[in-house]
Amino acid sequence: MESKIKALNDKIALAHLGGGKKRIEKQHENKKLTARERVEYLMDEGSFEEIGMLVTHRTTDFGMEEEIYYGDGVITGYGTINGRLVYIFAQDFTVFGGSLSETHAEKICKVMDMAVKVGAPMIGLNDSGGARIQEGVRSLGGYADIFFKNVQASGVIPQISAIMGPCAGGAVYSPAMTDFTMMVENNSYMFVTGPNVVKTVTNEEVTSEELGGAITHSTKSGVAHTTSPNGISCLEDIKRLLSYVPQNNREVTPKLPYILQDEIREQLSDIVPDTANKPYNMHDVIKGIIDEDSFFEIHKDYAENIVVGFARLGGRSIGIVANNPMFLAGCLDVKSSIKAARFTRFCDCFNIPLLVLVDVPGFLPGTDQEWNGIIVHGAKLLYAFSEATVPKVTVITRKAYGGAYDVMNSKHIGADMNFAWPTAEIAVMGAKGASEIIFKKEINEATDPAAKLLEKEAEYADLFANPYTAAQRGFIDEVILPQDTRRKLIKTFSMLENKVVATPNRKHGNIPL
Ligand code: HXC
Repeated sequence: MESKIKALNDKIALAHLGGGKKRIEKQHENKKLTARERVEYLMDEGSFEEIGMLVTHRTTDFGMEEEIYYGDGVITGYGTINGRLVYIFAQDFTVFGGSLSETHAEKICKVMDMAVKVGAPMIGLNDSGGARIQEGVRSLGGYADIFFKNVQASGVIPQISAIMGPCAGGAVYSPAMTDFTMMVENNSYMFVTGPNVVKTVTNEEVTSEELGGAITHSTKSGVAHTTSPNGISCLEDIKRLLSYVPQNNREVTPKLPYILQDEIREQLSDIVPDTANKPYNMHDVIKGIIDEDSFFEIHKDYAENIVVGFARLGGRSIGIVANNPMFLAGCLDVKSSIKAARFTRFCDCFNIPLLVLVDVPGFLPGTDQEWNGIIVHGAKLLYAFSEATVPKVTVITRKAYGGAYDVMNSKHIGADMNFAWPTAEIAVMGAKGASEIIFKKEINEATDPAAKLLEKEAEYADLFANPYTAAQRGFIDEVILPQDTRRKLIKTFSMLENKVVATPNRKHGNIPL
């Protein structure tokens, strides 16, 4: 017995060594934790249970039978984060550069299957040189098996990918199909083809960081949902993100205990400026409404004219979509429409109620927008709000003009409660533009056209630059004071808690892609 126990312990010790001390040291020199250290840091202490620790690859080509490492470059298993069950895989760069072999893929697929069966989030920590070159098509098949399972799990369990090292070639498509891609600054990259191929094909000179680093993907491409200055803060962000999402699509996010107080927030009264064209920061409105320090922003540096993220309101997890007049006057454009539509759909998949804050002058005009398909991309957001069956609540703080009024979770597309502040202007367009069109003749014929325009502008503004015409029609359920908004919203989301919507029987809708 003793020798058998020793044999087992020896194997476990070897597995814990991964690719060996030297490679672990190199990993640390590169300011990266090892896969095992990452898992230990992420999980509640002592909660991690490994599955498949003694798996090895089956390759005999290129002398590979001599190079056997337990675990085969990936650590898989389950544990808890803040007491809640999660499944995980963490690629071990010290073993064949974390490259993906047939068996490495099988291990990942095994925990993904369990996560779906049990109904718990799946977390992937990526740090890999891509397909195991010695295995050829067997490795490619392994990737495709994972991609397929990503799609089957989509909308069933939350899937989170952290990119903590290289992630190149087709390997990028697994994170891209999960719900969130979180990158580490200056220590991770994602691209379909690397700088060498780019140079050969297009003659562009670009570094890995410029081509596919965290900053590039969080500001230019939108591939990364969050970035973190280092691996530890990335793991902290995963923990925080998980606190806002449920275990699966049949559950709701655990609510934090909360007792309703007076909830009046005077600071909300001073945010919207007197002049309609002056910008203000919608983050101030969000901050004034939600529970203290509870905002977890997604796509913070991408398409900043719309803000999306999770928050707590009276202890309840909600998703927020909000125009931000600080950027592009809060217009909807291609990028912001895609960003908000994707976030809305995540919330809808996982029973997270939506709060939509509106100050939108319309869609951004121009050839750039039209030629890049604002019609179809704007339609994504319209589709996503219309399709969502979670509780949906809107507050119009100032402008809600034109088609963007309809798109931004209006009553007409299924919002449950629509509030407006007294500063709201709900109209086809701003008073000046509208007057120039409908009173064109009168203005041109006036002895003082400028004065006539001002007069007509005032007339139009008086009629439409307010929330009352919409309220008379019932398109706005209530005009509320800014300082009372938090209280109203807490009560509204509580009232909507048991909302159920029967949807038509169909295979799936056809969102404009
Ligand atoms: C097998 C690999 C490997 C791979 C790295 N290694 N990538 N082994 N298959 N894909 C091994 C190295 O041989 C080395 O082994 C160890 O991992 C660390 O690699 P280094 O090159 O020393 O590390 P570093 O300098 O940090 O460079 C990391 C790297 C580089 C940039 C990732 O290794 C690299 O370019 N690898 C190849 C990347 C690649 O082209 N992959 C295929 C992409 S195509 P030792 O024994 O020295 O420790 C693809 C298609 C997927 O992935 C398609 C899905 C549909």
